[in-house]
Amino acid sequence: MRWPAAGETRAPYRVYEDQVLYAQEQERIFRGPVWSFLGLAAEVPAAGDYKATFVGDTPVVLTRDSAGALHCWVNRCAHRGALVCRELRGNVGANGTHTCVYHQWAYDAAGKLVGVPFRKGLGGKGGYPADFDMAGHGLQQLRVDTVGEMIFGTFDSATLPLREYLGAEHCANIERLFGRPITVLGHARQYFSGNWKLYAENSRDSYHGGLLHLFYPTFGIYRQGQRGWVHLSDNKLHQLLQVCKPADDQSIEHYQQASARKAESDAQLEAPEILRWIPELGGEISLTIHSMFPNVVLQQISNTLAVRQIQTKGLEGTELVWTFYGFADDSPALTAHRLKQHNMVGPAGFISMEDGEAVNICQQGIAGSLDATSVIECGGSSTDSMEVMGVDENGVRAFWAGYRRLMGL
Ligand code: FES
Ligand SMILES: [Fe+2]
Repeated sequence: MRWPAAGETRAPYRVYEDQVLYAQEQERIFRGPVWSFLGLAAEVPAAGDYKATFVGDTPVVLTRDSAGALHCWVNRCAHRGALVCRELRGNVGANGTHTCVYHQWAYDAAGKLVGVPFRKGLGGKGGYPADFDMAGHGLQQLRVDTVGEMIFGTFDSATLPLREYLGAEHCANIERLFGRPITVLGHARQYFSGNWKLYAENSRDSYHGGLLHLFYPTFGIYRQGQRGWVHLSDNKLHQLLQVCKPADDQSIEHYQQASARKAESDAQLEAPEILRWIPELGGEISLTIHSMFPNVVLQQISNTLAVRQIQTKGLEGTELVWTFYGFADDSPALTAHRLKQHNMVGPAGFISMEDGEAVNICQQGIAGSLDATSVIECGGSSTDSMEVMGVDENGVRAFWAGYRRLMGL
């Protein structure tokens, strides 16, 4: 595939429809020189805890060993390839093992092979050769590192250290949103019938925020014109979008004049407290959408704090796994408020179900038009940060710049 001469202002629709490209992405991106999000430390707090997840298509397991160290290994038995771990999460005990159900090869938390049934055979017959090397048949390990609560893994031994990969400013935001011990409040899963890159673009696309998601402007949570900024990392891979709380109680008329669609100004909420922002984290920022390449978005939408992990499910499927959290020292009232406010996001939420639909209708619309391209010219051709958020697609172009570099396109 040749990228259009117009560069990042055009994405060829073939990029969402080509099986060969999809396989190359698994190799050059997900198993390549990037750090993929695996989970939160609070999801595996105790020795023996584990969580099964994915890096791209590859099933992996995140574990904590008896000394408290984190590990991640490919969930593929070294014997004949079966999934070793078949549960979503759990605990095998501090010194417990992960045992493959097929022939019961057993592995420790780090993925080291520690047990092979009938290794010496039975009655002098069968079994493994005398020089069979247990150390050479462990599970494939990933490098693991953390910033704040967030745990990342990489397949590539040459990937830059995690902090350099994310950049100082982006690490600082993670630390801001995980400034003290957290409590995981729950999970949700959202399936999109569309390619993962349509969602990667969507999460970096500030243009659609107040247009697709009418709940935002209708109820004054966000509208174009609120003070905010969009910061792209130097490598163009990660985007930090932040918006400050509205400076006044400006009516929606201003929004209605500028918008192509009219906000539904007569809509009423039965539970208006869902909109309330209880100031926290010591600042004016009330909205943060932090997209980290390739597979996670960290969000603060009012008091709804969550990470969204992007899992590829084939060329035309994507699963978004949401993990909602609060802080361990939250009052019961604040926890109740967060739980109620979670109704804004997730698969059945007032806001983010629409992103799933947007991904779906793009995938449907491009069918049969492999040689056509999108038009990504809002804000010109820049891929730079914006100190004052305007109306632009800089982050979408930046995504393609990073993608092209990794893919050699
Ligand atoms: S496939 Fe796992 S023990 Fe045989
Ligand atoms: Fe959206």
